[in-house]
Amino acid sequence: MKKSMLKTGMICVFCAINFHSAIAQTPTLNLDFTKPGANVSPMLYGLMTEEINHAYDGGLYAELIRNRIFKDNKTTPEAWSLVRNDSASVAAIKLMATNEEHIPYDERRHAINGALSTCLRLTVEKAAGRVGIANEGYWGIPVKPSTTYNASLYIKGTGRTEPFRWPWEPKPSTLSLPDIADNAAGPITVSIESNDGKTVYASGTINLAKSIFWKKYEVTLTTKADAKPTADARFVITTDRVGEYYFNLVSLFPPTYHNKPNGFRPELIKMMADMKPKFLRFPGGNYLEGPMITDAFPWKTTLGPLEQRPGHKGSWGYRASDGLGLLEFLQWCEDIGAEPLLAVYAGYSLQGDHVDAGPLLQPYVEDALDEIEYVTGDVNTYWGAKRAADGHPAPFKLKYIEVGNEDWFDRTNSYDGRFKQFRAAIEKKYPSLHVISTIAETQYPDLKITGDKKPEVVDEHYYRNSWEMWENASQYDKYDRNGPKIFVGEWATREGAPTTNLNAALGDAAWMTGMERNADLIIMSCYAPLFVNVNKATSTAPKAWQWDSDLIGYDALNSYGSPSYYVQKLFGNLLGDKVVSITATNIPTQPKPLTKQDSTEGKKVAIQVPTVFYSATADEKTGDLFIKIVNTTGKKQPVNFNLNGVTKVLPDATMYVITSARPQDTNTITEPEKIVPVSSKIKGVSSKFKRILEPYSVSVLQLQVAK
Ligand code: AHR
Repeated sequence: MKKSMLKTGMICVFCAINFHSAIAQTPTLNLDFTKPGANVSPMLYGLMTEEINHAYDGGLYAELIRNRIFKDNKTTPEAWSLVRNDSASVAAIKLMATNEEHIPYDERRHAINGALSTCLRLTVEKAAGRVGIANEGYWGIPVKPSTTYNASLYIKGTGRTEPFRWPWEPKPSTLSLPDIADNAAGPITVSIESNDGKTVYASGTINLAKSIFWKKYEVTLTTKADAKPTADARFVITTDRVGEYYFNLVSLFPPTYHNKPNGFRPELIKMMADMKPKFLRFPGGNYLEGPMITDAFPWKTTLGPLEQRPGHKGSWGYRASDGLGLLEFLQWCEDIGAEPLLAVYAGYSLQGDHVDAGPLLQPYVEDALDEIEYVTGDVNTYWGAKRAADGHPAPFKLKYIEVGNEDWFDRTNSYDGRFKQFRAAIEKKYPSLHVISTIAETQYPDLKITGDKKPEVVDEHYYRNSWEMWENASQYDKYDRNGPKIFVGEWATREGAPTTNLNAALGDAAWMTGMERNADLIIMSCYAPLFVNVNKATSTAPKAWQWDSDLIGYDALNSYGSPSYYVQKLFGNLLGDKVVSITATNIPTQPKPLTKQDSTEGKKVAIQVPTVFYSATADEKTGDLFIKIVNTTGKKQPVNFNLNGVTKVLPDATMYVITSARPQDTNTITEPEKIVPVSSKIKGVSSKFKRILEPYSVSVLQLQVAK
C-alpha cells in the first residue's frame, strides 16, 4: 500500500492501552508460527466484470457518444436531438433502420455494411443559421480544460436522392430532383458545447465532399486552459446549408489510458491496478449468457475495426456497443497486470432456454475452442493469426476457463451433460487449462456433475447482507480439503446504493478474513459488480445503473471508490504468501435480528454471530506479518495478541484503519474520500501486546517478525 494513497497521521486506534478490568473477557488472538502455514493462493484476489450499470459504455470504455451507430433503439434515435438555432429553419431527423425488411428500399439503401446498417438522416429544407444534430453522451459530455478530443464520423451529404428503382426498371423521363438543392457539400462544424448552446468549449471543421458515398472524417477538438470542468455539455454537428445529411459511427474520444485508440478511462484503470488484482473474470456474469440463446456474448463480432462491430443486445436492459470487445478485455488484463479468466458460453441463457448436450451443443463447444485459440494460439493458428491481425501477435497467458455462468438456475440439470462435453473438448485440445464448473456442488448439493471425474474447481456466488456475511464468515473453515478447489466468482455485501456503505465494507472484510484463513482452498475470488455509473434518470436518459451496491462509482467527469473498494485494496496489497494459524478466545457475539424468512420457518430465537473477525498471513521473503481484524460494533474493542513461535518482533509497526462514525456512512461523487484507509505508525509491539479497535472498523496491522 503506497503511503501517498492514504491519509497518514498518528491516530490512537491502536495506541498501547492498559486494561485494568475484564482481562478474562478481552478477546485474544493467538497466532501460532510453530504450525506449518498453508500457501496463500497466488491468485486469491481478482476482479469480475460484465456490461452492467454502464460499466463499459458510459464507463471504462472511453467513448463519449451514446448510440454512435444508432442501434440502441429501433424506433427513435436515442440520445440524439435536432439542433436548430433559429426557429425559421426547417429541418428534421429520422432514424434509418436499413436492415428492417418492412422498410421501403428508399430508406434501406444507406447501410455502410452489415454491421453499420442503421443511420441517422438530417434533412434541412431551410437553413436560417446553423442546423444539425446533438448527442447528449452518457449523462453528459465531460469537459475538462486543455484537453484534446478525437472526433470521427461517417457522413454523406446529398440533395434529395433519386427514388429507388431496380436496375432493370426504366429511368423516369424526368427526375423528381431536387426539391432540396444539392449543396450539402462544404464545411461542417463539429463542437463540444454547453447544453443550452451558449458556450462552445471546443470546435473544429470538416469539409464534406460532394458525394453520394459514405466517407469517414476525423477532427480534433481542444478545450481552452480556462475551461471549467463540467458534464453539462453535448456534442454537436452542424451545417448552414440545406441538404440531406446521413450520419453513422459518430465517435468522440477523450485522452485514454496510455493514449491507446479505442481505449479506456485512465483513472478507472489506475483504480483497478491499485488493487493489484491477479485475474479478471469476463465477460460475465449474465452478460455472458444474454436473455435468450441468440443473445449470448458474440465474441467473434466484437473483434476488428469498429466498422465491423454491430453491437449486441446485452443482458441488462441496454444495448452493448462492443467497442470493448474480446481483445479489449485482454488488453485491459495487461493494463492492470492481471491474467484473463475466460468464461465461455455453455448453451444456457437467462430466460431459461438451453441447448442439450450432444450434437446441438457441439457448435457452442467449437466456438469456445475458437475463442480459447484467439486468446492463446500462436500466430500460426487460425484464430491466433486473427488476433495478430487485430494488433496483438503475442498470445495471452490463460490458465482458467469457466464453463457458463450460474447454470444452477437451469433446474432441468442439463449442465451436467453440457459441462462434461465442454470439459472433455477443452481438456483434450488444451490439457494445461483448468476448467471451472459454474455449478458448485459445495453450494448446491442437489446439483451434481456426475461421472468419475469431479470438477477440479467450482464457482460459488454469494450476495448477502452484512448480518449474513458475519454469520457465514467462517464457512470455509469447515470445508472438505479433499473436495474441489473453490473459486468465489461473485460475492458482495449488498448494502448501500449505488455504491456500498461502511457497513457493507464491514461485511466484506469479515468475509475476506474467512477466505484468507482458507487461502489454500479458496484459490480465487472476485467481488461483483465492479463498476457503476451513478447517474440518476434525467428527462432524456434512464437511470444509469441496474444493480445496487457496487464497488467503484463514477459519472462522466469523476470517479470514486466505495468503502468496500478500500477494504479490497488494503487486503489485496497486504497479503503475503503464507497463511498463519490463528485462533481466538472470548470473541464477543451479538444476536442477528430475526428475518421474515426466520419467522416463516418458525424460528423464534435469534442466533448469535461474532462481532470480531480476523485472519493472519505472512510474507516469507520480507518477514511481514499482516493481521486483519474487523470490529463490527459501535463500541471500541480491546484485543490481545499472542504471537507464539516467533524469535523476534520489531517494536515498530504500521496500522491501517478504515472507519467512520456511522455504519451507513459512505463515499460519493461529491465526497469521494470520506472513508479511506488511514495509516499510522505504532510502537511497543512485541510477541504479546494489546490494542483497541475503533468502532465500526477494519484494521490491518503490519508487523515485522522472525520465526
Ligand atoms: O453481479 C450481478 C449478477 O449477479 C451477475 O450478472 C450474475 O452472474 C449474478 O446473478
